[in-house]
Amino acid sequence: MSTGSASSDDTPAVFSTRLKAATWDAHHEAEQQGFTRALLDGSLPREGFAAMAAQHYFAYTALEEVGRALADDPVAAAVVDPALFRVPALERDLAALVGPDWRDLVSPSRPTRTYAARIEQMADDPAGYIAHHYTRYIGDLSGGRFIRRAAAHAYGLTDGTGLAFYAFDQVGSLPRFKEGYRARIDALGLDEAAQRRVVRETRLAYQLNTEVLADLERTHTTGLAA
Ligand code: HEM
Repeated sequence: MSTGSASSDDTPAVFSTRLKAATWDAHHEAEQQGFTRALLDGSLPREGFAAMAAQHYFAYTALEEVGRALADDPVAAAVVDPALFRVPALERDLAALVGPDWRDLVSPSRPTRTYAARIEQMADDPAGYIAHHYTRYIGDLSGGRFIRRAAAHAYGLTDGTGLAFYAFDQVGSLPRFKEGYRARIDALGLDEAAQRRVVRETRLAYQLNTEVLADLERTHTTGLAA
């Protein structure tokens, strides 16, 4: 490799590629949770699906509050985008899945409280916030499509009621949006220390999500075939 320049041309892989490669094993762990598998194969009871939406509500409330607070931060602004915000969609889904009094009926699980508290700490750590943003929204724009299809089929939600969370009506073409997102985090030109910081926090974000899913599995898949 040339030694004459310290430009980003010397970087072996663009950051977004590195981020995926350095965290894909943690993705596998989250994707292979019993709860997720039951969701995808249609064996998860409808209450389990509603319970996941409720846990999402608390995590996304934290994610979007911190996002609003960091909207003018030069690093976090690369990802914060109101077109992605999921809380209004989750409120509609919970009204449909749990009932009009859903606010009185749902509460964050212990792992969700831990997860939301970690996200709230990112108000002082914009690079760390990118990690949490990426893990959830880019995941929703990727695997979310499969969950939407499985849930529509399993729970008869074919008109989209209860599935607003999975409908990103305001982002246009999903592949193009994801491409733009990756280009924006690459264009930040994060130095090595900041890149490592994002990778480390993304691994933690996956782990926190895995713990939320494991807890949902303990509560909602009892009696399902192993
Ligand atoms: C329901 C189970 C899941 C399935 C079937 C699934 C599937 C996928 C697929 C097909 C991709 C696209 C890979 C690519 O573009 O090359 C993807 C990417 C991604 N998923 Fe998942 N996923 C699941 C669960 C999760 C969970 C639980 C999370 C995190 C909470 C997550 C976060 C991500 C992220 C961040 C990416 C983007 C990786 C990148 O291209 O940088 N996924 N997923």
